[in-house]
Amino acid sequence: MSKSTIIITGGAGFIGSHVVRRFVNNYPDYKIYNFDNLTYAGNLANLKDIELKSNYHFIKGDITDAAFVNKLFADINPDAVIHLAAESHVDRSITNPLEFIMTNIVGTVNLLNAARHTWIKDKKVSSGKRFYHISTDEVYGSLGNTGFFTENTSYDPRSPYSASKASSDHLVMAYHHTYHLPVVLSNCSNNYGSHHFPEKLIPLAINNIKNMKPVPVYGKGENVRDWLYVEDHARAIDVIFHKGKEGEKYNVGGNNEWKNIDLIRLLCSVMDKKLNRKEGTSASLITFVTDRPGHDLRYAIDSTKLQNELGWKPSLQFEEGLEKTVDWYLANDAWLQQVTSGEYMTYYQHQYDAR
Ligand code: NAD
Ligand code: DAU
Repeated sequence: MSKSTIIITGGAGFIGSHVVRRFVNNYPDYKIYNFDNLTYAGNLANLKDIELKSNYHFIKGDITDAAFVNKLFADINPDAVIHLAAESHVDRSITNPLEFIMTNIVGTVNLLNAARHTWIKDKKVSSGKRFYHISTDEVYGSLGNTGFFTENTSYDPRSPYSASKASSDHLVMAYHHTYHLPVVLSNCSNNYGSHHFPEKLIPLAINNIKNMKPVPVYGKGENVRDWLYVEDHARAIDVIFHKGKEGEKYNVGGNNEWKNIDLIRLLCSVMDKKLNRKEGTSASLITFVTDRPGHDLRYAIDSTKLQNELGWKPSLQFEEGLEKTVDWYLANDAWLQQVTSGEYMTYYQHQYDAR
């Protein structure tokens, strides 16, 4: 199967940058096109180490712009798409749902249409093509204290973010069933690791602890998430992209459930050690705040299918991954400063425009 020219959407974001780095470094014969609009969540500094490699190309553009997407497909004639571009933060979706509908639903349909028109002529599908849609476990809704999401769990999204992702998943599958578009889809649990935008729980808490600012914990901190190291997710994406069966979906998870309050207490203790603070200093910053509206109680992924059929499993214990993550943030203060001050947006966009 030839998949050598690949568009990766959202490659300047958190997970996307890890996927782009992995593909650029591991597959020198592939041409990787990072298609990203550089919203607040996109940061080309995430890719500084690979930006000059000859198999890497950056395209600044908006997936909601159908004409732009169609022209890009006509110009580069991709063999595959790995689609990560999205609005990804649940709290922002509660404040501004429409932006999520546009990017996550309309943007995905634009990409599906472009792939369909490029790859399917007279109802014949070109061989070796693949549209890989990256989605979330949040489409399955919220679990009680027991049970796991499997690939057969019914969708029950409960925030504007998860509803928009669920809709995009349904559209991807609908294009497969209706037009025979060669698709594959995966639904992953919460990621953590380097280059994570500090609006999300772990990087926000690291930044606040570092600066001795309050660490906001929603409600009583009883909500449970299943955390996966981002490089393990990027490796899962690599495996599913190359070996996943057409028309199938795969759950990806860390088998690593933590109540938010327990996670934050562990993080505080790691930070006390790393910053040579007296044990308990960082925990004193924990502040319980008003809960997120409609806050899902628990997510937990069963990734048996991916493990048994494609041989993937998580590689890192959470304690080790969390320590690596803290080390990265402490060693990359300039990244954090640029992101929290907003400087990264103008600096890198100007640098790109000047090329
Ligand atoms: P992110 O918010 O860090 O990055 C999103 C990227 O998409 C940014 O680079 C942004 O500039 C780009 N983008 C946004 N709108 C765009 C548009 N209209 N056109 C082109 N580019 C645009 O997101 P992330 O956390 O890296 O998540 C990536 C994907 O993985 C998303 O689809 C998300 O739903 C999914 N996912 C995330 C997690 C997680 O824990 N972060 C878990 C499971 C699945
Ligand atoms: O499950 C996968 C999803 O994980 C992805 O699809 C989303 O893109 C990603 O953002 C993430 O969603 P969450 O809402 O679970 O992540 P977040 O980091 O925003 O919150 C994690 C938990 O911590 C959640 O229960 C809310 C809580 N929280 C969050 C923040 C930002 C707090 O208690 N305080 C906070 O300040």
